[in-house]
Amino acid sequence: MPIIPVSGRDQTWAALTEESAYVFGVLEEGRVVQWYWGPRLPAEALSEVVSETPGWIKTGFLDPDDIAELLPVDGGRRWGVPALQAVYEGGVRSVELDFDEAVSGENSLELVLRDRAHGLRVGLHLRLRDDTDVLERWVSVTNESTAPVRLQRLDSGSWVIPEQAGAVFLGAAGGWAHETQLQRGELPVGETTFGSRTGTTSHKANPWIMIGDAGEDRGRVWTVALAWSGSWRMTTQRRPEGDIAVSAGFGHEGLIWPLAPGRTLRTPPALGLFTDGGYGEASAAWHAYARAHVLPTPGEVRPVLYNSWEATGFDVTEEGQLGLARRAADLGVELFVVDDGWFAGRTDDTRGLGDWHPDPDRFPDGLGRLFDGVRELGMQAGLWVEPEMVNPDSDLYRKNPDWVLHYPARRRDTMRNQLVLNFARDDVRAWALDWLDRLVREYGLAYLKWDMNRSFTQAGPGDLLWIDHTRGVYAVMDELRSRHPRLRIESCSGGGGRADFGILRRTDQVWTSDNTDARDRQPIQQGFSYLYPASVMSCWVTDSPNAVTQRSVPLRYRFHVAMAGTLGLGGDLRSWSTEELTEARSLIAAYKEVRQTVQHGRLHRLFGQPGVTASAVQYVLDSQVVVLAYHPYGLTKQPPRRVRLAGLDPSAVYCFDDTRVHGATLMNHGLALPTWFHTGEDYRSEMVVLRRV
Ligand code: GLA
Repeated sequence: MPIIPVSGRDQTWAALTEESAYVFGVLEEGRVVQWYWGPRLPAEALSEVVSETPGWIKTGFLDPDDIAELLPVDGGRRWGVPALQAVYEGGVRSVELDFDEAVSGENSLELVLRDRAHGLRVGLHLRLRDDTDVLERWVSVTNESTAPVRLQRLDSGSWVIPEQAGAVFLGAAGGWAHETQLQRGELPVGETTFGSRTGTTSHKANPWIMIGDAGEDRGRVWTVALAWSGSWRMTTQRRPEGDIAVSAGFGHEGLIWPLAPGRTLRTPPALGLFTDGGYGEASAAWHAYARAHVLPTPGEVRPVLYNSWEATGFDVTEEGQLGLARRAADLGVELFVVDDGWFAGRTDDTRGLGDWHPDPDRFPDGLGRLFDGVRELGMQAGLWVEPEMVNPDSDLYRKNPDWVLHYPARRRDTMRNQLVLNFARDDVRAWALDWLDRLVREYGLAYLKWDMNRSFTQAGPGDLLWIDHTRGVYAVMDELRSRHPRLRIESCSGGGGRADFGILRRTDQVWTSDNTDARDRQPIQQGFSYLYPASVMSCWVTDSPNAVTQRSVPLRYRFHVAMAGTLGLGGDLRSWSTEELTEARSLIAAYKEVRQTVQHGRLHRLFGQPGVTASAVQYVLDSQVVVLAYHPYGLTKQPPRRVRLAGLDPSAVYCFDDTRVHGATLMNHGLALPTWFHTGEDYRSEMVVLRRV
């Protein structure tokens, strides 16, 4: 897709995608402003959006353009949220940029601006892809002077949301065991910051926002997302005059990044997407973008995995794991993952992290027999690791106390008895890569669950580590994958604390939440689905009552909820009855029949508030249609008697059981749910699979 100069206008460009246009240009004083972002306009109309901002009384208190900029700086006539704040030598803070040149590449453009007095070069980058409406923007800042510069904020860019969008936003917020809860409301006048100061993406908020007057299948939606896995912030700014800008970037307030002479700091991409077709269309576009441009293995079908954490905790033994493995294999599981508790001294969470070799007491001959046994059962082998962490009670820490985030003469606060290793350090990364590489090679591992179980504290030395730690994690994962092309990685951070388009470039799936209660999972999965496709949403069926919530939920409902993503098992299979094992076996077989569609198809969130009222989701791929319907309650909150399906070919005929119905009927009159779905015990669920004839 092209980025073209707008004819008849100097220094003005339009980024055109199939459905959208994004028009921007340079004003005097090096201000690069957004003129338009919305539905695609004809080429000859593009210049018509370039005009002086109308309608506001001119005063000495406000510059109408200061939040229209792609990168508002702290300097000159601006009073909005700065996306770039720099302090030059002598304490000078007013950044004053001149436009220098536009450098075009294939589907990309860099606008080069310079602060001549202080030798700061700023590159505003924009890139399009051929098959998506997502715009990728990032910024690079280079110190071309001989004096140090300090950066106090460097966002990937600011996006103007047109006034017609209104101020209703949708985002995902939460906490441990209740990640990605949808949060909807009207943005207040003022500045609202979503973000994380934890050093990771965090459970508290996920780095995206949708703004628009929309429903699931109607309405215009503007999304901004950030592809970053460390601390981040996204500030919405709604002026009393009515307009809204969203600035997104890495870091958080208070950090100061030194930029030495000759050095460049480059931001992660901020992604913008305009869609007209409701939240459903927006999600579908994000999922397609993830498959085409983010995920390392988008075409694969994810295997059904078993994970031993909830069954055995730290009590990991060869015989115990093989006992579970035999049961898992018998059910149709394809990948067996040994979780925490396998390495030296790790009998609880007070010690062991850092000493990444099999515990000599429990595995005197290593893990070879265990994983060979797993493979003999026809499954692939996977292992839990937490490379960024160390327990003070470990040989690694006793030998390298300086490797952790710390300041001299400050406490080293532990959380879950552990400290964070500084992945900004070359020696730490080299150490991690070395043992991870050996482990994968020695045991022929197909899968790593890469966990990260605490936030940063006392994070020194140097504020750049907030960026470099995250990049260090990326680098180790990237190198590991390049050495082991068949290795797959799951991103975990106490559940879903690290799910974003940055980590998803090098991981194949995400552990969505430590909360495996099916009912609680439904809203978590719903929120997750807004940006990320079902193939990366790892969902386990665990025991009932649930270990975290103590809620009892029937096996079938637990399965049907987990089958809406990438199915796994995490229960103590030794305690499941023969009937439960039989039911599980047939549900796993049923999942394998539909998983291509669930994982890679088009998602439709059909109706209801998942986990609260009756609800249903649908996936469509080629000729298969999969509907999963849930009803957690008894007689209250009656569900509709018919579920109206979506995204079908109206004139085609679809069949299920012995019934044949037109797509038009299914989408307008609906698919009848069985009577038992309306009456009977709590937690009723059904999967209906249709095929287009
Ligand atoms: C984190 C993960 C869990 C499990 C434990 C092990 O909490 O989210 O799934 O791996 O660590 O200690």
